[in-house]
Amino acid sequence: QATSIPADRVPDMGKRQLMNLLLLGAISLPSGFMLVPYAAFFVPSGGRGTGGGTVAKDAIGNDVIAEEWLKTHGPGDRTLTQGLKGDPTYLVVEKDRTLATYGINAVCTHLGCVVPWNQAENKFICPCHGSQYNDQGRVVRGPAPLSLALAHAGVEDGKVVFVPWVETDFRTGDAPWWS
Ligand code: FES
Repeated sequence: QATSIPADRVPDMGKRQLMNLLLLGAISLPSGFMLVPYAAFFVPSGGRGTGGGTVAKDAIGNDVIAEEWLKTHGPGDRTLTQGLKGDPTYLVVEKDRTLATYGINAVCTHLGCVVPWNQAENKFICPCHGSQYNDQGRVVRGPAPLSLALAHAGVEDGKVVFVPWVETDFRTGDAPWWS
């Protein structure tokens, strides 16, 4: 949800910069083309998008190549990647050594700590206040009020791509609280 800043609180400099930007856009770009840079300006960068998706990045910022990933990440693996809007997102390897079609946003729904995967417990356990989530990120113990957010995970041109999850949360049957 957007946080609105009262108009009188918007700094003048910001307004002026925006005006300059609009002016520059109007002068230097054919109008039909203007939507593209505008969209690029307002959408936070989190990797090169393909078809509305965001390419997952590994710990050192490289695109995640599905085939390579599966060579080094075995069944049951849950490893953090950079996902939508740059959020830390777990890529899940299923028991049959395929990538799960969902990624799990690692940001705790309590107060936002990044929740580590605990292989031994088969859960995500938040170090901050002890919230627990099952292996699909469904909350099983508070204080976290909600399950971890989901993203669709797929492969395009060999790369892992996340797409916003706007459908029903398959773990709870509820509408997604995050979209
Ligand atoms: Fe995770 Fe509080 S931030 S339990």
